[in-house]
Amino acid sequence: MRPPFGMAESAIGKRARRVRYHLDRMINVGFIGWRGMVGSVLLQRMREESDFEGIESVFFTTSNVGGQAPPEAGTGATLLDAYDLKALAACQVLVSCQGGDYTGKVYGDLLKSGWRGYWIDAASTLRMADDAVIILDPVNRGVIDAALQNGIKTYVGGNCTVSLMLMALGGLFREGLVEWVSSMTYQAASGAGAAKMLELMAQMDRLTSAAKSAPKSDALTVETAVTAMQRSAEMPTAEFGAPLAGSLLAWIDKEMPAGQTREEWKGETETNKILGTSKTIPVDGICVRIGTLRCHSQAITVKLTKDVPMADVESILASTTPWTKVVPNNKQDTIIDLTPTAVTGTLTVPVGRLHKLRMGPEYLGAFTVGDQLLWGAAEPLRRMVRILREHLG
Ligand code: HSE
Repeated sequence: MRPPFGMAESAIGKRARRVRYHLDRMINVGFIGWRGMVGSVLLQRMREESDFEGIESVFFTTSNVGGQAPPEAGTGATLLDAYDLKALAACQVLVSCQGGDYTGKVYGDLLKSGWRGYWIDAASTLRMADDAVIILDPVNRGVIDAALQNGIKTYVGGNCTVSLMLMALGGLFREGLVEWVSSMTYQAASGAGAAKMLELMAQMDRLTSAAKSAPKSDALTVETAVTAMQRSAEMPTAEFGAPLAGSLLAWIDKEMPAGQTREEWKGETETNKILGTSKTIPVDGICVRIGTLRCHSQAITVKLTKDVPMADVESILASTTPWTKVVPNNKQDTIIDLTPTAVTGTLTVPVGRLHKLRMGPEYLGAFTVGDQLLWGAAEPLRRMVRILREHLG
């Protein structure tokens, strides 16, 4: 407490008041699924950004109750049971990277138990619920702030391809310049999970061995040996169901009506929900898995609402977010900066190959790349924890 008005406060008193002030403003946050791939990237980013400083952290587990918690939970802290509704309900904020099955099992019961805290989720289960917001704050902070004011408590990370497309093109949507978008994707193995990334690498290993043991080293002999290996029973395909290394798979997720896959269906539904559009902007394309590890790329056609000069298109795109980077449409910049190799592990979202297509001056061609585990998964979640800290603090 401050001393009564007019009395001097000692240095110790001032310090104690500052510490109390800080503690009063701490929010307590429970983490579930923090050991998996997205959860690990989330913790890594939170550590890099000192996000744990303003929060009291609790860590849950589905398999190791009583095990040692990460140091952020405090000395000697142990892991709590992720199915213990009471322990979960003691948290003001819960962040789940545990997956859709867990959300399906726990979230409803938690609400029934009377919990009214904030639920931040990486899984898609709750994304399209009326009382849930898809979070991508560099693009839709206004939608998030309005939801917080309206008492919305559920905040869900978007589909990675959609989030990365909006991190690249958000400026054009913001300016009302998009009539429709077609996105043809080149999606990394990480989007399908850690086990699939490892299978891709095991497949690559088999192909390399086949190439090395080819009877001659000319290109056609090596190709014949590699193709034979791809088609052989020796290729590990338990995860993908087919060889991805040296090939591609033009199907991601479940079948939907009208010939789409669920990944393609998310393009329009999630884009419009993230932006809070009043009139649906059509988004569609073909989603393809390729043999990269953690960067999704997209070849995009935008039908603009009018003929916008290229210089304006470029400056609008550059203003999308501080991480959006316009890459000049030339070979050297493209092959150096607009690739998964350049982008992996960074927050930069390059957008390049920008030019008007031959279909007419309203048709814009673009290509973009983004790290699927950062802006496509963990980054919007950690930023939402910060936003809640500001909101509740
Ligand atoms: N569904 C995406 C993929 C994962 O399979 O790549 C990111 O939401």
